[in-house]
Amino acid sequence: MEVTEAAPAAAAAVEAEDGNGRKGSWYVLGERAVLVPYLREHVPRYHEWMQDPALLEATASEPLSLDQEFDVHRSWTLDPLKRTFIVLDKELIKGEFAPGNPHTEAMVGDVNIYMNDPDDMQLAEIEIMIAEHKSRGKGIGQEAILLMMAFAVEKYGIHTFRAKISESNVASLKLFRKASRMLHTALCLKR
Ligand SMILES: CC(C)(COP(=O)(O)OP(=O)(O)OC[C@H]1O[C@@H](n2cnc3c(N)ncnc32)[C@H](O)[C@@H]1OP(=O)(O)O)[C@@H](O)C(=O)NCCC(=O)NCCS
Repeated sequence: MEVTEAAPAAAAAVEAEDGNGRKGSWYVLGERAVLVPYLREHVPRYHEWMQDPALLEATASEPLSLDQEFDVHRSWTLDPLKRTFIVLDKELIKGEFAPGNPHTEAMVGDVNIYMNDPDDMQLAEIEIMIAEHKSRGKGIGQEAILLMMAFAVEKYGIHTFRAKISESNVASLKLFRKASRMLHTALCLKR
């Protein structure tokens, strides 16, 4: 999926930074979802999600112990080539959204990019998971993908996204095809 020149169309989505300028301090606000940095407080719930065999299969993941999940969290946080956000369902946020607050009550999934192609550091592999069934089918996955792409274009100059999706994962194929069309439409409108 080529997104060269998508940055201006996407820039509006990149909302704010909590002021300390560290890698993990950005968050992205959407209409239905908020992307927040993956914090230690999120790990226990994330670990519960990743006990579900269906989610493990859909995301091509291996089951981990809680300690291993904390190790993975640490390595993801330190890896400059990786960026992970936890997806919050805005309808589940108690009180006002506050930057820096993990809002674990509203966490429903994650979205991440990995700049793992040594021949092209502006190519990113992208993954999405909306683990909480109650928050599926509300357009949150779609919005989270677009927000993440906007962030990646704006902050890392990413021009190509790659998603590895099993042929049987109808929901994910539909979601990524639609996201691709929406990005191209945004480019055409801009021109
Ligand atoms: C795939 C996934 C992220 C979709 O998240 P979601 O928030 O439920 O998706 P959305 O509500 O934003 O829907 C996006 C589009 O996909 C479609 N869709 C969602 N779930 C679907 C399903 N089970 N079957 C068919 N289409 C589906 C929606 O209808 C929508 O298209 P539309 O606007 O044309 O109607 C979610 O089901 C998931 O996390 N699955 C497990 C993990 C996974 O497969 N990740 C992808 C690996 S790359």
